[in-house]
Amino acid sequence: MKPLIVANWKMNPQTYKEAEDVFAGIKKGVEGASAEVVICPPFTWLTDFSHKNESPISFGAQNVFYEDKGAYTGEISPQMLKSSNVDYVIIGHSERRKYFNETDEIINKKIKKALEAGLKIIFCIGETAEERDAGKKNEILERQIKQGLSGIVNLENVNIAYEPVWAIGTGNNCSVEQTKEAIDFIRKFVPENTWVLYGGSVKAENSVSYIKEAGANGLLVGGASLKPDEFIKIVKSVE
Ligand code: PGA
Repeated sequence: MKPLIVANWKMNPQTYKEAEDVFAGIKKGVEGASAEVVICPPFTWLTDFSHKNESPISFGAQNVFYEDKGAYTGEISPQMLKSSNVDYVIIGHSERRKYFNETDEIINKKIKKALEAGLKIIFCIGETAEERDAGKKNEILERQIKQGLSGIVNLENVNIAYEPVWAIGTGNNCSVEQTKEAIDFIRKFVPENTWVLYGGSVKAENSVSYIKEAGANGLLVGGASLKPDEFIKIVKSVE
């Protein structure tokens, strides 16, 4: 099975022109790559790219709402994504938990609705530095998995991304040993064939070790996914 490499652009870059350039650079560089590449741009560019897409790259959203339609100003439903050639959605990212008060319960509702619509999920979990220091890492991961996936029987379209919060955007990436330990722990709660990715300060120089040594099935890449040359190196490194 191909490793899954997901680009999370977050709220970047700032202009359509820059976004087009980053996408064009990535598209050209990953042609013929054996990894599955998923790009998750902000909504403003997501569907423009996904409608025009003629490459093997897949698209993902960075968020979705848990209702099908109606009076929810500013929200986007899973069906809207599905009908716009968007196949994936990131749910449970620590930035959404922190800045938008997304609870395990909200995340669970979003995952359920997105699965119903036929989307594939990148379900993010991870502990903060304080939780790790207090020896609560496993407790937090177990709670996030159990509550986030509560009532969901078929996990075929669910990929879990282990993203320790302290490793995101800090350059302070999780060591291979720490990642392996967390991934092995996560696997206790999901079927054998559920994919577990790693995310948090992934760069070309450390990418392959997460796949080959820590046993991740793929990577969730933030900052480095906005630099086409670096991102292409990451994609190629895991082949
Ligand atoms: P980072 O972000 O690669 O910039 O650390 C990863 C993420 O938040 O998904």
